Amino acid sequence: MLFRQLFDQDTWTYTYLLADFNTKEAALIDPVVEKVERDFKLLNELGLRLKYCLETHVHADHITGTGKLRELTDCEGIVPENAQVSCASRSIADREILKVGAIGIQAIATLGHTDSHMAYFINGDRVLTGDALLIRGCGRTDFQSGEAGTLYDSVTQRLFSLPEETLVYPAHDYRGHLVSTIGEEKQWNPRFVGRTRSQFIEFMNNLNLPDPKKIMEAVPANERCGNALIAK
Ligand code: FE2
Repeated sequence: MLFRQLFDQDTWTYTYLLADFNTKEAALIDPVVEKVERDFKLLNELGLRLKYCLETHVHADHITGTGKLRELTDCEGIVPENAQVSCASRSIADREILKVGAIGIQAIATLGHTDSHMAYFINGDRVLTGDALLIRGCGRTDFQSGEAGTLYDSVTQRLFSLPEETLVYPAHDYRGHLVSTIGEEKQWNPRFVGRTRSQFIEFMNNLNLPDPKKIMEAVPANERCGNALIAK
């Protein structure tokens, strides 16, 4: 399997490229509109055919590159079930498995950061956690119908039940981390270690964070597959 972690420095976002060497099929998870040229060039250089653009959720901090990539390739744009994105090619349900060549991508419903969110368990050894679980952190729960108790349940019941050695690749990192493991996060993630569900809810409800810079443009644009930015 080819697996690449790509970074957008303006929004601290990781995009992931995975592909099957034999069939040349590829998927991008959480592409960023400003980085479409980079991603498209890389796909061409590696001789890959983009089959899917997958979103972990409707983002508030950046605009998805899916709309643009769908114009450039014949890929499908796939969003989590219940996401308010009518232009998506289709949605993916909890536990559904997508195939990219021989690679299996299993969706794991991980609500709480937003009210429709999927983590993607890849080939049984790594999980793309979106904004549900970050390295030594987690996504905020104070907008987009976020709910702290639901996020606590998603992380502690769905993600922390994966094998300890599972590699954790988040949708963002703000401190320079690239990858962690489920075992490491269970032991060291300060948002969850030593906190009961109600203590977690109280903590998350009192973070008082400013809104992301791009929330007013990013959410409506992402509900149109990122096309607002490139509307003629
Ligand atoms: Fe997010």
